[in-house]
Amino acid sequence: MVCVMRWTPRNGDKTMHLMEVKQLGVQFQTPDGVVSAVNGINFTLNRGQTLGIVGESGSGKSQSVLAMMGLLATNGRATGEVLYQGQDLLSMPTRDLNRIRGNRVAMIFQDPMTSLNPYLTVERQMTEVLEFHKGMSRKEARAKAIQALDAVKMPEAARRIMMYPHEFSGGMRQRVMIAMSLLCEPDVLIADEPTTALDVTVQAQILILMRELQRDFGTAIVMITHDLGVVAGLCDEVMVLYGGQVMEQGSAEAIFYKASHPYTAGLLAAVPRLEGGDAPMLAIPGAPPNMAKLPAGCPFTERCVMALPQCGTVRPVLAPAAHDDQVLRACHLNIETVTQNLQRLKAELGAAA
Ligand SMILES: Nc1ncnc2c1ncn2[C@@H]1O[C@H](COP(=O)(O)OP(=O)(O)O)[C@@H](O)[C@H]1O
Ligand SMILES: [Mg+2]
Repeated sequence: MVCVMRWTPRNGDKTMHLMEVKQLGVQFQTPDGVVSAVNGINFTLNRGQTLGIVGESGSGKSQSVLAMMGLLATNGRATGEVLYQGQDLLSMPTRDLNRIRGNRVAMIFQDPMTSLNPYLTVERQMTEVLEFHKGMSRKEARAKAIQALDAVKMPEAARRIMMYPHEFSGGMRQRVMIAMSLLCEPDVLIADEPTTALDVTVQAQILILMRELQRDFGTAIVMITHDLGVVAGLCDEVMVLYGGQVMEQGSAEAIFYKASHPYTAGLLAAVPRLEGGDAPMLAIPGAPPNMAKLPAGCPFTERCVMALPQCGTVRPVLAPAAHDDQVLRACHLNIETVTQNLQRLKAELGAAA
């Protein structure tokens, strides 16, 4: 049985965000030239908040957060600022970054086997983290690790902690990862598609678990997913990425109920449970763009059924939406056109079904 203190907001410095990402960009040197995988994204994160980063495969979600953590491949370079409590993670010496990474800012990945060591027991991997970051003795660390496994509802944690990663099921391994990321009670947890590899039931359990942990510890979460349904119950803010660029960004409510970008609308229409009942699915035709050959204008142009002539040549600026200034959108079309077109498409789809 673990006793968890309920988190209450502190009356700290209200002017400083827990995390502030400014104009974050990622460029890769490739034999074909420079690939801009992420183009100037901005967001802030406060204690206990959740930001969802949504987009199809290849849209720049992982590279954005890998850049934040200083974990890009050797041919990659990050630009901009990633301020954690006012300190820029991008320009700080590795020594200082290592004190923050895995401690104040932790990350979980889609495939736990890429970050768990197959040759070490879960106990050794967990105690190592606490010995390094918290200077705990092995005995103290072991007790804390078992407590963390209890918190993620691992049955028989005291026995199972002695097992190797491959001895766990996929869902249990993901729980080990979450427990490990929470060992140091981080302020920020970055989760890169943490449930994509799991079946739907286990996926739901893990999401409920993350919500409980957030409620109990006040952890801020950056949740990456290609599935808008996953973020529906979890996120306060949503950023929609396509071709490394922000298409739309704002409160989860605005994005879910008043999507104003054709790409977001397409993503939403592909989530049947948000649409309710047996509404026909409106899949987005085509495939994500080749990042090395992006058009000068909006990267979504080729697949956008509503595109105007200027869409392919003039890049739309991310600016407050006319209908809601809490929403930022990058689109030449006005929202009425997007809504009308979407209704017409749905009607056509309904008639064809
Ligand atoms: N090491 C690399 N070298 C060149 N390009 C890369 C490299 N890693 C990623 N990219 C590019 O970055 C783009 C975005 O990747 P990523 O952020 O991993 O997408 P996702 O949204 O699926 O997480 C990819 O489409 C790819 O073109
Ligand atoms: Mg990814």
